[in-house]
Amino acid sequence: MRSPTTIEIKGLSYAFGDRTVLHQLDLTVEGGSTVALLGPSGCGKSTLLKLLAGLLQPQQGEIRFGDRAIASPQSSLPPERRDIGMVFQDYALWPHMSVAQNVGFPLLMRRVPTAERLTKTMIALERVGLASFALRRPADLSGGQQQRVALARAIIAEPGILLFDEPLSNLDRDLRESLSREISTLLRQLGTTAVYVTHDREEAEAIANHIVHLSQGSVTAIQAVTPLSGEIA
Ligand SMILES: Nc1ncnc2c1ncn2[C@@H]1O[C@H](COP(=O)(O)OP(=O)(O)OP(=O)(O)O)[C@@H](O)[C@H]1O
Ligand SMILES: [Mg+2]
Repeated sequence: MRSPTTIEIKGLSYAFGDRTVLHQLDLTVEGGSTVALLGPSGCGKSTLLKLLAGLLQPQQGEIRFGDRAIASPQSSLPPERRDIGMVFQDYALWPHMSVAQNVGFPLLMRRVPTAERLTKTMIALERVGLASFALRRPADLSGGQQQRVALARAIIAEPGILLFDEPLSNLDRDLRESLSREISTLLRQLGTTAVYVTHDREEAEAIANHIVHLSQGSVTAIQAVTPLSGEIA
């Protein structure tokens, strides 16, 4: 198995026009660990995640994944070359494709042979408990099931890094609790480095090894989460 990917962010700044959203942010995410970005609306969580994903390019500073330079003001690798998987709040599934086609899509793009793609699709669906839903359309699934499909699609190519932007905030409280525990277990099993954006402290404690508190584009505190505090919370 390859070694987990460390994320290193140094002096990262980003502004929309004259509104500075991230201020010279430094952060290291150890390989194989999960960091939750927690903070109020507008503090820059999604902006930081988009910079990690390659949907935005830094105006100052740099991002490294392991020994690879990923992004700086001079150069920025496109999302598909960053070895990442992403899960967003709104699932972003393709309605005209079956569950299996949605999940297998990243491997189709990489021209993975059909037999291998189908096998890996079923393994990913089994990991999220949806093996028997392979032929359904997303519209025939509940919100929680749709988000599991998005999760299976994010992990199918075994990326080094997983990025989550409030993936459970459209779901009701009970479902949020059970799915956050499942995601936590899955991340431990896979050993993937993960950055998980949320504004729900309990969700952050259930999932992350460290909680990074953001306020107005700066890190204000980093809190270690012990398994015990996660269970009590
Ligand atoms: N495309 C954009 N153009 C201009 N300003 C933007 C753009 N996207 C975000 N912003 C601004 O940047 C700031 C940070 O936005 P961001 O989406 O990172 O916040 P967030 O912490 O993810 O908030 P939320 O919890 O509401 O999702 C906000 O003030 C927002 O209005
Ligand atoms: Mg956001």
